[in-house]
Amino acid sequence: MDRIRIVGGNALNGVIPISGAKNAALPLMIASLMTDDTLTLENVPHLADVEQLIRILGNHGVDYSVNGRRVRQDQGYSRTIHFTARNIVTTTAPYELVSKMRASFWVIGPLLARMGVARVSLPGGCAIGTRPVDLFIDGLRALGAEIDIDSGYVDARAPKGRLVGNRYVFPKVSVGATHVLMMAAALAKGETVLENAAREPEIVNLADCLNAMGARITGAGTETIHIDGVDHLSGARLAVIPDRIETGTYAMAVAMTGGDVLLEGARADLLDSALDAIRATGAEVTPVNSGIRVHRNGSGIRPVDVTTEPYPGFPTDLQAQFMGLMTMAKGRSHITETIFENRFMHVQELARLGAKISLSGQTAIVDGVDHLKGAPVMATDLRASVSLVIAGLAAEGETVVHRVYHLDRGFERLEEKLSRCGAQIDRLSE
Ligand code: UD1
Repeated sequence: MDRIRIVGGNALNGVIPISGAKNAALPLMIASLMTDDTLTLENVPHLADVEQLIRILGNHGVDYSVNGRRVRQDQGYSRTIHFTARNIVTTTAPYELVSKMRASFWVIGPLLARMGVARVSLPGGCAIGTRPVDLFIDGLRALGAEIDIDSGYVDARAPKGRLVGNRYVFPKVSVGATHVLMMAAALAKGETVLENAAREPEIVNLADCLNAMGARITGAGTETIHIDGVDHLSGARLAVIPDRIETGTYAMAVAMTGGDVLLEGARADLLDSALDAIRATGAEVTPVNSGIRVHRNGSGIRPVDVTTEPYPGFPTDLQAQFMGLMTMAKGRSHITETIFENRFMHVQELARLGAKISLSGQTAIVDGVDHLKGAPVMATDLRASVSLVIAGLAAEGETVVHRVYHLDRGFERLEEKLSRCGAQIDRLSE
C-alpha cells in the first residue's frame, strides 16, 4: 500500500493549480443518466472517486470518452469527458459498486426520473459517523415514489412511470439529498419547490448543468429552489467549478508553513468563510485575477475558533485541516463540528505529531505548541488524511502517512503540487 513521506520545515513558495471540484464532478457525471444525448464535462479531476463513478455509470450503460488536455506544459491536468447514456441497460445499482462510494447512491434520482424505477443498494462510504438516507427517501416519496427497503436495497417506483412535482421541506440541510431531488424533479410532471435546500456552490453547478440540458430550475444557491418539470433533457457542455476544499487546504498549508503561493484558478467567492478564518490567523489572503494569493511571513499563527456549518458557513470538509493549522497557533482555539458526528479521527493522529488537543463533545480544544515533530501516522478518511500532510509539512523531521488511498480519492497530484512549491514530499510505493 502506498505511503507518503514528508520531511517538514520548508516554506511553500510558487504556484499550485487548483483542480476541478470532486464534489461537483460527481453529481454532474450522474446527471448524464438523465438524457440519451451526450453530456460533455470540462475540468474533470483525475481522482479515484471519479474513476469509481465511471465504473458505476458504466454498469447502467453510460459510455464515456476522454480528451486529456495539458493545461500548462508542466502543471495540472484538466480532462474533458463525454458521457452518453443512450440506453439505460439496468436500473439496479449493486452493493459491490455503491458500497465503495457513498455518492453513487445518488443515481437513484436520475434512474427513477428517467426510467420510473430504480433499485439501489444502501451506501457505504467514509467512516465519518452514521450517514443515513432518510431524507432522500422522504423527499422522493413526496414526489410520488413508492419505496421499499428490501435486503439492503432501496426499491423505488414512480406510479404511472413518472414522478410528480410537489413542495418538500428538508428537515435538515443535505447536499446529497438536494442534488438528488433537484435531478428527480427536473423530469417530474409539474412544479416542485424544495425548501431548506443546501446552498453549496456544487448545487449551483448542477443546476446550471441541468438548465443547460433543458431543465427549468431557479433559486439554486438559495434555500428555496423552484423546479418546473420538463418531459425531456438533451445534451450539454459545462465546466466543473474549481475545488474549494482543495483551495482551502493549500491555503491552510501556506498559513502553517509560511511562504507565498498563488492558488491558480481558485475562486475566492466559493469559500469566503474559510478564507476569513485563515486571514484571522494572520495570513494574507488576496484574490487576484488568476486565483488567490496566500502569503505569511515569520509572524506567529493566531488562534481562531471555528464552527462547521452548511454553506456559506465554515465547511466540515476543511475542519481537519484547520485543526492542523491551529496545532501550532500561539494560544488556545476551539473547533466545533456540527455536520458529522465522529469526525475527529484525525485528533489521535495529530497528537502523534505532538499536538495538544482535547475533546469535549462536538468541540475540540486545541492548545497550540511551538513545534510539531514528525512521526508515522495513519490516514482515516479523505479530509483527515490531508490534515496530517499539512501538519507534516510544518513538523520537524520525517512524517510518513499510511493508507494514502484516502488522499487519492480527493486530491489530484498532491505530492507533485506541493513539491513544486518547495515541500520535501514523495510517495513510497510497495
Ligand atoms: C457532501 C459532500 C461531503 C461533505 C458533506 C457536507 C459530496 C460528494 N460529499 O456529502 O464532502 O462533507 O456534503 O458538506 O458532495 N443526513 C441525514 N439523512 C440523509 C442525508 C444526510 O441525516 O438522508 C445527514 C448526514 O448524516 C450529515 C448531514 O445530513 O450529518 C449532512 O450530510 P450531507 O449534506 O447529505 O452530506 P453528503 O451529501 O453525503
